[in-house]
Amino acid sequence: DKGGYPHYMLKEIHDQPGVARAIESRYDAGDFIAEQVTLDFNRIDRIRMIACGTSYYACQVARRWFAEVAGLSADVELASEHRYEPVVADGLREAAILVSQSGETADTLASLDKLKGLRVPTVGIVNQQGSTLAREADFFLPLLAGKEIGVASTKAFLAQLLVLARLVAHAADQRGHRAAAKRLRTALVAAPKAIEAALHNESAIVAVAESLAKAQSALFVGRGALYPLAMEGALKLKEISYIHAEGFAAGELKHGPIALVDDKTPIVALAPSGDLFPKLASNLREIAARNGRIILLGDRKALLALSDIASASLTLPSCDELIQPIVAAVPLQFLAYYVAVARGLDIDRPRNLAKSVTVE
Ligand code: M6R
Repeated sequence: DKGGYPHYMLKEIHDQPGVARAIESRYDAGDFIAEQVTLDFNRIDRIRMIACGTSYYACQVARRWFAEVAGLSADVELASEHRYEPVVADGLREAAILVSQSGETADTLASLDKLKGLRVPTVGIVNQQGSTLAREADFFLPLLAGKEIGVASTKAFLAQLLVLARLVAHAADQRGHRAAAKRLRTALVAAPKAIEAALHNESAIVAVAESLAKAQSALFVGRGALYPLAMEGALKLKEISYIHAEGFAAGELKHGPIALVDDKTPIVALAPSGDLFPKLASNLREIAARNGRIILLGDRKALLALSDIASASLTLPSCDELIQPIVAAVPLQFLAYYVAVARGLDIDRPRNLAKSVTVE
């Protein structure tokens, strides 16, 4: 049931405030994570996160949260690489987190087998309850996103971020990083409203998408925790609109990708104000000096500071910097969706893609 929307993807984008609330009511009542995951994060030296595609980008965001909030270093690997990588016995005590919407992705399951063979404790963060990953990981955290039908993952990604953030806050509490954990939890309380506010951008995005739909190629840039969102925005666009798109860390542009900038290539810049804003602003001014067409996503303050170089601006609701990646997911999903609408494509069933990649 598409709930009155023309496509599952659009319905699933709109489902997101409800998903955030479902996660809040399950995870914030009692000590849900402590009951589900009986790991002692004080006795772990390094987290290893494994996933594919969009789920991998959620892990990339969580990597920074683990470092910043829980003081725990985390590595993120693509399952398709991890399964064949040499094992280095460096003596560090590890726990692995495997993230998947379907719980049936072949590469992620192969990583799970490898980790079990190495006796690394595993946490599965999965949407499909009863799936192989949900059953076979040592510990299981449900995503509670409801069934996701659109091939382009939207609400499962947002749920991954929300659940990972709660796991980070739990680890931070255990490790005595109480103030940081409290800040993250407080930010998460505000998340459902901020996600709802991000949905209000929809009509402004339609017009931007119509111009983006004519491009042959698009670049997405961000810094810090928004760098993975730049890659996620690019993946979403290429999956359903078939426009070539790449996500870059903004500081990396001058090391090569800036050669791609011309007046025909739109650059979607994730630029909320915060610690890295001045750095990002100077990266964007370099793009503007080369006639790049900048589509700016930022809070009011950031948009004001860069109004002279933006060819289009989309407002992100203000929120704690820690949850900016969660809020920024929404306009990127809309953007991909409305570009594909403008191009008249089969959004819920894009060419060459399967919802669940159960073969290698
Ligand atoms: O079910 P999973 O989360 O393990 O799937 C991983 C990827 O195949 C998936 O995220 C894919 O990249 C989506 N189509 C992205 O929209």
